Amino acid sequence: MERIERLKERNNAIILAHNYQLPEIQDIADFVGDSLDLARKATETTADYIIFCGVNFMAETAKILNPDKVVIHPDPESRCPMADMVDIKSLRWLRSRHPHASIVAYVNTTAEIKAMADVCCTSSNSVKVVKNLDSEEVIFVPDRNLGLYTKRFITDKNIILWPGICPTHHSLIRKEDIENLKREHPEAEIMVHPECRPEVIDVADLVSSTNGMVGYARRSKGKAFIVGTEEGLCYRLKKENPDKEFYPVERAICSNMKKITLDKVVYSLENLKPELNLPKEILEKAREPILRMMEVGRGD
Ligand code: 13P
Ligand code: SF4
Repeated sequence: MERIERLKERNNAIILAHNYQLPEIQDIADFVGDSLDLARKATETTADYIIFCGVNFMAETAKILNPDKVVIHPDPESRCPMADMVDIKSLRWLRSRHPHASIVAYVNTTAEIKAMADVCCTSSNSVKVVKNLDSEEVIFVPDRNLGLYTKRFITDKNIILWPGICPTHHSLIRKEDIENLKREHPEAEIMVHPECRPEVIDVADLVSSTNGMVGYARRSKGKAFIVGTEEGLCYRLKKENPDKEFYPVERAICSNMKKITLDKVVYSLENLKPELNLPKEILEKAREPILRMMEVGRGD
């Protein structure tokens, strides 16, 4: 950790980390946040190097917003499997069937898919982003659960959903898990991520992005919370609220998020690689939908 501090200073580098990163990575980061917050932070930095501790689409977003900066992703194998569930050929086919539809790409998509989209969104602002669109037909990729959640608030648009899911939120967090935790801790409030299954969302007190949960836990008078998202968020929640209790679904781990380790961050800072690069055309085309999303701002 000391080495990382020295190297960061020597290279004028900043470390951005997602809320699901390993505790030691969160501890050495200059900034820890959710997808939307990290995208905003990436536009504000004056550092020459951005070391991005998160999955690939997050590092790509930082690069798209900072084409002149060096973005280093300590492990290029740290990819979001849900982002890889949508491919250009199939999306082109769907668009050809709905030529008047706007394409809304959750940020959990590759840069190539963002480049095809009209606007991006995150779990914080999907409802606000879709409501804001003029078009009556919307293709929403790739997360079906986030799309279904968004649909609950929008009745005047035909929202066409893609069959993508997050393996962590969809398969590892079940209604029974939440109900069992509630039986053990009846006083606890239930916070869940909108990537969860609809029946999990139905039993929640709060449905929100990871930063939305951080803010809610801070403001709430409640002292205990069941956390229906990737378990890594509980480290930040406990660190910021030592007097409160947080109960995760223990098996809800995103193994891709955990691929970034201290060793890999040291290597990145010493060698200033692996650098993330994208074709110029993709960088330019993907920027507009991300900027539109940022203009809409947070919805939680
Ligand atoms: P947040 O933007 O809410 O942090 O979500 C990102 C993510 O990958 C959830 O699985
Ligand atoms: Fe992707 Fe799910 Fe991991 Fe988030 S938790 S990065 S959506 S696989």
